[in-house]
Amino acid sequence: MATQSEQVTILVTGGAGYIGSHFVNRYLQKKPFTHRILVIDNLSEGNPEAIENLKVLYGERLIFQRCGIGDAGVTTLLSDYGVSAVVHFAASALVAQSQVEPMLYLRNNVGESLKLLDSMQAAGVKNFVFSSTAAVYGTPNTDLILEDERKSPVNVYGRTKLMVEGMLDLLNERGALSYVTLRYFNAAGADPSGLIGEGHHEETHLIPIILQVANGRRKALKIYGNDYDTPDGTCIRDYIHVNDLADAHIAALEYMCQRPGTGEAFNLGTGHGDSVQAVVSLSCQVTGREIPVDLCGRREGDPPVLVASSDKAQQLLGWKPHYGLEDILKTAWQWEQNRKFCLQAT
Ligand SMILES: NC(=O)c1ccc[n+]([C@@H]2O[C@H](COP(=O)([O-])OP(=O)(O)OC[C@H]3O[C@@H](n4cnc5c(N)ncnc54)[C@H](O)[C@@H]3O)[C@@H](O)[C@H]2O)c1
Repeated sequence: MATQSEQVTILVTGGAGYIGSHFVNRYLQKKPFTHRILVIDNLSEGNPEAIENLKVLYGERLIFQRCGIGDAGVTTLLSDYGVSAVVHFAASALVAQSQVEPMLYLRNNVGESLKLLDSMQAAGVKNFVFSSTAAVYGTPNTDLILEDERKSPVNVYGRTKLMVEGMLDLLNERGALSYVTLRYFNAAGADPSGLIGEGHHEETHLIPIILQVANGRRKALKIYGNDYDTPDGTCIRDYIHVNDLADAHIAALEYMCQRPGTGEAFNLGTGHGDSVQAVVSLSCQVTGREIPVDLCGRREGDPPVLVASSDKAQQLLGWKPHYGLEDILKTAWQWEQNRKFCLQAT
């Protein structure tokens, strides 16, 4: 039994969600038994089964509380469990929805995050890892995006994430908080165990949609625009495996805890882009299935190319991605064929 002084407890918000649950798994897999995680999630989107499946592996090292990040009881939870750092995944994250329901995004992503920061201050917790997004860059002027690229989000979702980044900067400047912001590019894939995977109730991401077409749960993949200035005319994105993302959070926590006062942002991608058409072709090979496509017009606000330079994360965090696109598709296909939850997602 770990003594009080050896015990390390971190709070993970949104741990029942896609990326949060993979982080919980990787963290508890890699860290010694003296480390435990307290997940808070209001289950507005996530899947309780993800927590149940992880509980089978990690038992009491994983504690779950169903609550909102802005709830009044969060300060008490932080104090009672002796939390040393918060990893903040919880958010509303559907770009199209954000455009028509801006108040929801301001309230949940900005307002509730502020309440969470308030609770941390009240409980004396000063370490924060924040899930940001490539969407903060909007339509960049370069194909390989560095962290200091101009921030000019073109949708409400990206703007709310940038607002939180601003709050973190301000608190850091005043000495109130250490933080690492991680700007993810396109998260994809699933844990090879098959216990957890991507289970959004409304799926908007390319790879799960392609694989749902491959296994007959959708009729065809809509490709939005094949007349972009790219080699095959379809948009190019940087796909990063969810376990690689999770590992970057572990590295970020270590970096920050060794350097009090840290206030840094890192891109998380592979530095390599694949076109929609290339992802479809490789998916046909991986699944051995046909993937019918419907060619549609361009969508507003879709930049032709979004690829991360993650040199800064590689240099400062000592992190690098290990999975390539084929591994991403293989693990996502394994998950899609044997989903443990969120079967109704189409
Ligand atoms: N999936 C991607 O490709 C991607 C890319 C860039 C950034 N992100 C960011 O990463 C984070 C995680 O994304 P995801 O794909 O795992 O999303 P997700 O929807 O699967 O997970 C989010 C979780 O947060 C919970 N949640 C939302 N609001 C809450 C609140 N007020 N209180 C408590 N719990 C709340 C939901 O129930 C859900 O379980 C988000 O912040 C998202 O903006 C994701």
